[in-house]
Amino acid sequence: MNKLRLAHLPTPLWHNSALDEMVGAQVWVKRDDMTSGAAAGNKLRKLEYLLGDALHRRATVVLTCGGVQSNHARATAVAARELGMRALLFLGTPDGKPPAQATGNLFLDLMVGAGLRFLAPDQYRQRQALMEEAAREIAAQGERAYVIPMGGSTGLGALGYADAMREVRQQLDGGQGGGPAGFDAVVCACGSGGTAAGCVIGARAFGVAPRVCAMAVCEDEATFRSAIADIVVQAGAITAPPGPPADLHVYDAWKGPAYGVASDEQRHFIVEVAERSGLVLDPVYTGKALFGLARLPDKPRRVLFLHTGGLPGLLAQCEAMFPRLPR
Ligand SMILES: Cc1ncc(COP(=O)(O)O)c(C=O)c1O
Repeated sequence: MNKLRLAHLPTPLWHNSALDEMVGAQVWVKRDDMTSGAAAGNKLRKLEYLLGDALHRRATVVLTCGGVQSNHARATAVAARELGMRALLFLGTPDGKPPAQATGNLFLDLMVGAGLRFLAPDQYRQRQALMEEAAREIAAQGERAYVIPMGGSTGLGALGYADAMREVRQQLDGGQGGGPAGFDAVVCACGSGGTAAGCVIGARAFGVAPRVCAMAVCEDEATFRSAIADIVVQAGAITAPPGPPADLHVYDAWKGPAYGVASDEQRHFIVEVAERSGLVLDPVYTGKALFGLARLPDKPRRVLFLHTGGLPGLLAQCEAMFPRLPR
């Protein structure tokens, strides 16, 4: 394996008693929103493996995909540029046209000179085939292309989150996060499953927690159960698992009205969390995940909540969030 060092690690373990009160549990936040500057978020841990593989294969262009406000696509574009590669992003929009304004993640994609292809929903369903076709065209022109599937959620990418669990164990042993006792559960947002899969591989094995709660922001429980199980198997074929897997619970009750759209109640919650604790969540992933945790019927007592980033996605939704701001 050709893992790179891209993220600023270890990310802090953060605690705030006002947040505990709002959630109704002792919540330690793993601040993976701080893995970097413009490339920050959970994706960077996966990209340490994926872009390491791309460089090893002497790729000059990295192709990946996501929604128009994809954090993964933006992190890939920024990190690829830092490494001397360029990115070609396949971004889904409602009509296959560029949005009228480049905000949030899309703005950053443009800043680092990523190539952009906008896909309508029917084309977006064919995104993997379209990326592979483009990779062949790029190769025919004498360059080397490397395709990263949606969210970087492959077995290789997921190893980044098995490593994150090892990092948390070291922090606990060093007296952080409330001391060496592990947590009752790791809780994270789930958009393509790679983060949860890596946690399943590492959480129990490294004595961090016996279970992983994946809060779906799209799709449904059954889809993610099977996707995450597949990623765990793929990762196991690359490197032997460090120990027994954690139990996986997938919840799909707090997805909100649609992918990328938070309910009024969720937006209110996100603003209240920021106002009372200073923790800034996003309305696409982390805000919905913490909202779900606060409502879990069998709520764990001591939780490791992954703050997986998403700030540019929040900034792209200022208008939707603004009516909820305190005046
Ligand atoms: C901010 C943020 N949090 C969580 C996730 C979910 O991670 P995964 O795609 O590995 O399920 C993503 C990406 O989908 C993300 O951008």
